This record gives sequence, C-alpha cells and structure tokens, in this order.
Amino acid sequence: MPYTIEISELTKRFGDIYAVNNLSFKVEQGTIFGVLGPNGSGKSTTIRMLCGLMHPTSGSGRVLGYDIVSGAEQIKENIGYMNQKFSLYEDLTVIENMHFFGRIYGLSPRETREHLSKLKEEMQLDVRENQLVQTLSGGWKQRLALACAFLHRPRLLILDEPTAGVDPVSRRLFWQILDDLRKRGITILVTTHYMDEAERCDITALIFHGKLKAFGSPSKLINENEGTSLEDIFINLARNGDEINETA
Ligand SMILES: Nc1ncnc2c1ncn2[C@@H]1O[C@H](COP(=O)(O)OP(=O)(O)OP(=O)(O)O)[C@@H](O)[C@H]1O
Ligand SMILES: [Mg+2]
Repeated sequence: MPYTIEISELTKRFGDIYAVNNLSFKVEQGTIFGVLGPNGSGKSTTIRMLCGLMHPTSGSGRVLGYDIVSGAEQIKENIGYMNQKFSLYEDLTVIENMHFFGRIYGLSPRETREHLSKLKEEMQLDVRENQLVQTLSGGWKQRLALACAFLHRPRLLILDEPTAGVDPVSRRLFWQILDDLRKRGITILVTTHYMDEAERCDITALIFHGKLKAFGSPSKLINENEGTSLEDIFINLARNGDEINETA
C-alpha cells in the first residue's frame, strides 16, 4: 500500500538558516503521526511543504500519492489543513465560516449544510449556527476549525498545534475525535508541545533544528531509551544537542 506521506531528504533554507534539514520519513494510512520539536525546529515549515504551500529548497515528497511540487494543487484540494492560528473568521458566524470553507472546497451550500449536520455530531459541536465565532471559547473554536478542515471529507488531516492554549478537558475531547477519525482510516499529522498528546500518537517524529532525531512509536522510543518517558527523551535530545532554537 502506498504511504500517505513520504518525504525524502526534504530541505528548506531561509538565507543561512536550514529550517528543515534533510528530513526523510514515511507515514502509513490510518495513523496518527505526531511531530514534536522545540519552537523554531521546523515543524510548520515542514507542514507548509507537505500541504503544497511552499516549495522545498531540495529533496522530494509525496502526499496522498501527489508530488509536493508538481501536484501541489491536488494536495490542497484533497487534504484538510488546520493552521497554527485556526484561521477562522472571528466576525462571521459559525455557519458563515462553514459556508466560506465549503466554497473553498467546492461544496454547494446544500452540501455544506448536509455535512455540517453530520459534523456537528462527530465534532460535538453543539453551538448555535448563528453565533459569532469571536464569542466562542477556545475549545469550541478548535473543534469548529477541525470541522471546517474536515468539511470535504479528506483522507488526510494536517493539524498544526491544534490544541495550543486549549484547556485539558477540551484537549481530551479533541483527541477522542481524532481517535474516532483514525478508526475510520483517516491519516492525521499533528504537531504538539504536549507530551500526553504525543503518547497518544501511533508514530512520533522528534525534530530539532530541522533534523529528525527520533522516529517511531512512543513505546519503541521509550524502550530504546531504557524506559525513560517521552518527555525525558525530548529534553535529553534538546540538552545533548544544545538544540533549543527559540523563534525570534
Ligand atoms: N518565511 C520565513 N522566512 C524566514 N525564516 C523563516 C520563515 N518561516 C520560518 N522561518 C524560520 O525557520 C525556522 C523554523 O520555523 P517553523 O515556524 O517551521 O518552526 P516551528 O517548529 O513550527 O516552531 P513553533 O513551535 O514555534 O511553531 C525558524 O528559525 C523560523 O524563524
Ligand atoms: Mg509552528
């Protein structure tokens, strides 16, 4: 079976900075793939290249079988992407946001309404359709953003720090939704700074200074490191390489 995500020696340079440095990995379908790394380690840059939003300096990749450069348009149409800032329109209502994203993905207003009624249940989105997004709490906004990213039923969701700044109850609910999606064969790439979330992933990649420092299931990484927790593995990697690279 082809891999949902496959990258080889992917590199992105901004001037003298290697934001992503020779990254190679493969992700199977139906996996929750967690990408971990300190601020400025290249997670969002990697994601932008995988989504076809930015061209690599060198290296190659395929997402859902499409080349990340020549197939960028097909990738954009076929994935669901939630960026680090959620990108909802605060001064629009819930339903207006849904219709906006529906139009981007080529859905008619009727199709959007149909999908919305199913999604409301799946995403536990019991909000009023005519409520302004700016009046929603962080957890609701997060689930609405996920619903917008999933409106066209993509087989791959790419979620950049979806739970940043969200309370533990909402984070747990969000992860239950991700688990349900994974059971239906959806592949999910998610970046996070929370180690409890990392431990819920099938596969994790630890990235420092744009380089892949560890890759595998959390249990494999923990076994290889004599039972140390994922958090300790992360901190040791950061210390050993003096790799914490705070984004300016
Ligand atoms: N468009 C850009 N132009 C120049 N430098 C950039 C650009 N985008 C990212 N960078 C730099 O590339 C490096 C990686 O940034 P990136 O945003 O990918 O990190 P990140 O792992 O997503 O960090 P965070 O956890 O803070 O979101 C950083 O040094 C950042 O300053
Ligand atoms: Mg980022």
